[in-house]
Amino acid sequence: MLLVRFIRDASARLEALYPPQEAGNLVLRLVQGRLGVPSYLHITEPDTPIPEERLPGLLRDLELLAGGTPLQYVLGVADFCGRRFRVDPRVLIPRPETEELVAEAVRLVRARSGGTRVLDLCTGSGCIAWSLALDCPGTDALGVDLSKEALCVARQQEFAIPAGALRPRFAQADILDPSFDAAALSGWSGAELIVSNPPYIMDKERAAMHPNVLKHEPALALFVPDSDPLRFYRALARICASFLVPGGAFVLEINEALGPETAAVLQEAGLLQVEVLRDIFGKNRFVRGFHS
Ligand SMILES: C[S@@+](CC[C@H](N)C(=O)[O-])C[C@H]1O[C@@H](n2cnc3c(N)ncnc32)[C@H](O)[C@@H]1O
Repeated sequence: MLLVRFIRDASARLEALYPPQEAGNLVLRLVQGRLGVPSYLHITEPDTPIPEERLPGLLRDLELLAGGTPLQYVLGVADFCGRRFRVDPRVLIPRPETEELVAEAVRLVRARSGGTRVLDLCTGSGCIAWSLALDCPGTDALGVDLSKEALCVARQQEFAIPAGALRPRFAQADILDPSFDAAALSGWSGAELIVSNPPYIMDKERAAMHPNVLKHEPALALFVPDSDPLRFYRALARICASFLVPGGAFVLEINEALGPETAAVLQEAGLLQVEVLRDIFGKNRFVRGFHS
């Protein structure tokens, strides 16, 4: 089959599920990912055929996409902060706004001198812990998650470790458990930075979400009850107040609808210079602050 025909037919098929432009983009990214060809090849060389032995695999992928499986799960990888992370349905697909969270965390680490101990709470695929460990040599990062399945994925990420950088560690724990003991888990007396992208979508917000997210991504990673949407931030505030060293910092991703309320939780725990930061779309998306 000609590549151009596969792209045309597959895009038309996915239009049942996605807007036309998104459907076309998904097919181009699939073809790029699976065949390693540039996304414009079918235009510049319209006679390009799909190698016969690759077609059955591509058709299987298309079935999955047509059934609503996100492209990243089909390909088994997601791009994040300039790296390619392994992902599968055991972990949330890292989101672009979380790249902004990492950028802020990198600024906080680089503003310090000396090595930095970083606690990444609710680590999922480990994308935050790995990015900080690799982008900021000297960072000792510990990623924590309740899900053992997610931690398997986080541990299996494969990156070359640059000189001076440390491979992040990962540990299982429930951060909502009042007996959560960061010192016992990490072996540290304190951390210089705590970063987290915890579940923060309220159950009532499910209705506005794409059905594919609801059907395929882990609910444990996403939702909090309408009756207590800030439960993770109360736990995070407690951990930041008790485990950050003097001058230590935190940066957390938040629900855009709850900026001032989330900041108040952290202030009430005694944390200082608490500020709500906006994402590139101008939405309240992060809370940053310091221990002292
Ligand atoms: C929004 S995802 C974030 C994943 C990853 N850090 C990212 O930014 O892509 C939240 C993560 O929190 C984990 N989680 C949920 N409840 C938890 C709890 N009580 N304690 C620790 N981790 C929890 C989920 O398993 C999930 O991996």
